[in-house]
Amino acid sequence: MTTIHALTEADRDDWLPLWQAYLTFYESTLADDVTASTFARIADPDGAIHGAIARDDDGRAVGIVHWFAHPATWSKTGYTYLEDLYVEPSARGGGVGRALIAHVADAARAAGSDKLYWLTAETNATARALYDRVAERSGFIHYQIDLH
Ligand SMILES: CC(C)(COP(=O)(O)OP(=O)(O)OC[C@H]1O[C@@H](n2cnc3c(N)ncnc32)[C@H](O)[C@@H]1OP(=O)(O)O)[C@@H](O)C(=O)NCCC(=O)NCCS
Repeated sequence: MTTIHALTEADRDDWLPLWQAYLTFYESTLADDVTASTFARIADPDGAIHGAIARDDDGRAVGIVHWFAHPATWSKTGYTYLEDLYVEPSARGGGVGRALIAHVADAARAAGSDKLYWLTAETNATARALYDRVAERSGFIHYQIDLH
């Protein structure tokens, strides 16, 4: 059975390979100080970014998810954005991704958020197969301006 618990400082060595594999999946790299800052903020129990890690029966880390709440003009209590979701290849198809999303939905609901949402690449058919089962497509298109 999969267990999911909040990421803490003690999970650093298990989190890092999953985070690196997630970046590789997106053909991306990040400077080490960005990764260090990201983990520090996730592991800070009073921080704004939250994270959870999934472990299999043997305690092996098989998935991670990160999220944060933000204010919204259309809601008094705001929304929750799920920024990163990754399940290790050998553990895929067994419900870990679904369980991680459900974990975030529970946490966001408990924190009073009105909505949980996330983005994915149009071409990410595997992720979309899961998302189409657990969520509604918003119909919005994502735009951005790189400010660097
Ligand atoms: C997307 C991802 C997180 C899904 O994790 P997962 O643990 O395999 O997902 P689940 O096992 O919970 O899948 C849930 C549902 O999606 C379906 N599904 C999963 N992979 C599928 C695939 N390759 N093709 C069709 N359906 C699939 C499952 O059948 C399951 O449906 P069911 O519960 O009704 O049977 C995982 O594939 C992953 O980490 N991919 C690489 C990183 C990524 O794309 N992250 C998301 C970025 S937005």
